[in-house]
Amino acid sequence: MKGVQFLVAFVLLALASKLVSASDPGPLQDFCVAINDTKDGVFVNGKFCKDPKLATAKDFFLPGLNIPGNTSNQVGSMVTPANVQQIPGLNTLGISLVRIDYAPYGGLNPPHTHPRATEILVVVEGTLSVGFVTSNTDNRLFTKVLYPGDVFVFPEGMIHFQFNIGSTNAVAFAALSSQNPGVITIANAVFGSDPAINPDVLAKAFQLDQNIVKQLQSRFWWDNN
Ligand SMILES: *[C@@H]1O[C@H](CO)[C@@H](O)[C@H](O)[C@H]1NC(C)=O
Ligand SMILES: *[C@@H]1O[C@H](CO)[C@@H](O)[C@H](O)[C@H]1NC(C)=O
Repeated sequence: MKGVQFLVAFVLLALASKLVSASDPGPLQDFCVAINDTKDGVFVNGKFCKDPKLATAKDFFLPGLNIPGNTSNQVGSMVTPANVQQIPGLNTLGISLVRIDYAPYGGLNPPHTHPRATEILVVVEGTLSVGFVTSNTDNRLFTKVLYPGDVFVFPEGMIHFQFNIGSTNAVAFAALSSQNPGVITIANAVFGSDPAINPDVLAKAFQLDQNIVKQLQSRFWWDNN
């Protein structure tokens, strides 16, 4: 009987630790600057790292987040990322940043999700209507109008958006709890997939006429990041 209890406790602990390790792993050393080839590198945590002796301040640096993104596009927004792709020194550190610009009167960062990160956003300029929706079966919407200095959190994996409801440009910065948060823009992934999803699937899922689905699938789905 003791053995069974031990086994149950062990399985529960194993399940719990699986949940806990679902985000980026904690660093195993001071840093691990990412490199593409293994020459002069060491292998840690599943990634190639630059030999720490060869790391420089440049590996941890990115200029230019003062420059507004170009919002002349069909959604009226632009995301400028600062993740491990741009800053190799972020490798293994589980954090990154974006700047988001929104055009006046309706610039939209369309509904999307980050499969690997929680996001914390601060508005620097303008007025944003933001929100996220919880998972099934509640699908509860949490929404708020944000002004400069306001901060809002989008929990990991939740579908969320930001919409400029003001008459001026809006600017926000957001930190994400992953070096490589990933983005799934819902409309693009569903209606702009390559190859296209069978229209019967989408007609039924979205309860739409098949012609409307085909029309949606023929659109160009702009990717703002
Ligand atoms: C690695 O390769 C990618 C794709 O070729 C490139 O964009 C990136 O800058 C490279 N990163 C480093 C650290 O050399
Ligand atoms: C912004 O993007 C539009 C559309 O691609 C382009 O025509 C325009 O020249 C760009 N503006 C700037 C300042 O780069």
